[in-house]
Amino acid sequence: MHRLLVLHGPNLNLLGSRETSVYGTGSLEELDRQIIEWGNAEGAEVTTRQSNAEADLIQWIQESPSEYDAIVLNPGAFTHTSIAIRDAIAAVPTPTIEVHLSNIYAREEFRHHSYISAVAVGQIAGFGPQSYHLGIRAAIQHLGKGETQ
Ligand code: DQA
Repeated sequence: MHRLLVLHGPNLNLLGSRETSVYGTGSLEELDRQIIEWGNAEGAEVTTRQSNAEADLIQWIQESPSEYDAIVLNPGAFTHTSIAIRDAIAAVPTPTIEVHLSNIYAREEFRHHSYISAVAVGQIAGFGPQSYHLGIRAAIQHLGKGETQ
């Protein structure tokens, strides 16, 4: 059974009340419940974590190889600023799928660049909560590919 770590970055704890026209009205708790169900339905065991602190996300990425097969990461605004998170992803063998609720390319120009995507397996953006569902499926498919190679 694949073990997946889903990480939510800064301000995603405010889902449901934060900019609802962009991010929707569902809470992070509801999203996490869905993510765990989606994972289980795909035969994966999913752990979810959120932090507003760059250091926590880096620590969890660094520790991931011993406990997880892949990471599904929504880095929030750190997407556009954090070379340190990018370096953490590049430093570990755990494959990372980058996800975003919103279509970052249809928004402000400063959201069009991601420091993360060059070290991620791929990026999924713009599908709301379903971005995480697709991210989980992409992670599992990526891991499956590794097994047959
Ligand atoms: C986000 C997009 C980022 O630009 C923003 O800073 C977020 C959320 C998304 O999920 O759409 O906090 O990562």
